[in-house]
Amino acid sequence: MARRDASAISPTAYYTSAVWLHHGLSHPAFAHLNSHLYYYGLKGPQMAFKLLGGPTLDDFLLARHQIIDHELDAAIRDEGITQVIEIAAGLSPRGWRFAERFRDSLTYIEADLPGMAERKRKLLKHGGIDSDHHHVLDIDAFASDGASLEAIARTLDPARGLVIITEGLVNYFDTDTVAGLWTRIAAVLKRFSKGIYLSDLHVQSVNQGMSVQAFMGALSTFVRGRVHLHFSGETQACEQLLASGFDWAQLLTPSDYRQILPDCNRSGADLVRVVKARCGALPSAHAPS
Ligand SMILES: C[S@@+](CC[C@H](N)C(=O)[O-])C[C@H]1O[C@@H](n2cnc3c(N)ncnc32)[C@H](O)[C@@H]1O
Repeated sequence: MARRDASAISPTAYYTSAVWLHHGLSHPAFAHLNSHLYYYGLKGPQMAFKLLGGPTLDDFLLARHQIIDHELDAAIRDEGITQVIEIAAGLSPRGWRFAERFRDSLTYIEADLPGMAERKRKLLKHGGIDSDHHHVLDIDAFASDGASLEAIARTLDPARGLVIITEGLVNYFDTDTVAGLWTRIAAVLKRFSKGIYLSDLHVQSVNQGMSVQAFMGALSTFVRGRVHLHFSGETQACEQLLASGFDWAQLLTPSDYRQILPDCNRSGADLVRVVKARCGALPSAHAPS
């Protein structure tokens, strides 16, 4: 199976890091010159899309990021899960924020391709915001040996539960590649007392219309490859998650979070969905009565 050059989607990691920073979600240590270059470089085209009634990247990036934060916080506080692996973390500040919030009661592992992981380790160290319970490791999300998810998960305690996150990864890869990744994530989570997977996902049904198509075309040009909309809608995406081995799956809609997460009110927020999938028994609040 052909795998795209990962360096092509690295610019998006710089762009998103600037978004998190400009919206007060990050730390000045995460400010990289490239981040500002991409952020201000895309401001003009984004304004043009907005004037034509189209979405902006920031609308759905902020929605997805904050819903993942919210669901991760709930998994830790309400379900007592105390281990996280965030795959393709890029320059996201989430690992730092959660490590600050939960201190040594949480083990947070971020992982990315070696070049990006090394950049992140340096940035955390130079900024003086690294800590013993927050680790940045090398990974290839699609490898099942070497620097793999399975190898990282083997170092964790099955009794403490595990949340696995992918943010800004799956829509850059084709359906077979994503289904393979989901199958491996589900297999890893099954070994833990509680297992939750969180990810952003764009589906076809909410990404239609000329302005959205033009926008997806522009994004594909930026990342030098196709942005894949694998599934017709939420039902098909959930079917694939269940077929991949999860016991329960739901796609969360940003507008349902409007009351608690103000960024979910943005006009383009609903262009994205957040996958929440589980392995193992449902907590009682979700169980059918
Ligand atoms: C769009 S960025 C998202 C970064 C971060 N999650 C965020 O939302 O700010 C995509 C990230 O995926 C990483 N990536 C690409 N291919 C990968 C792979 N095979 N394994 C792990 N990470 C990968 C890139 O290095 C980059 O950091």
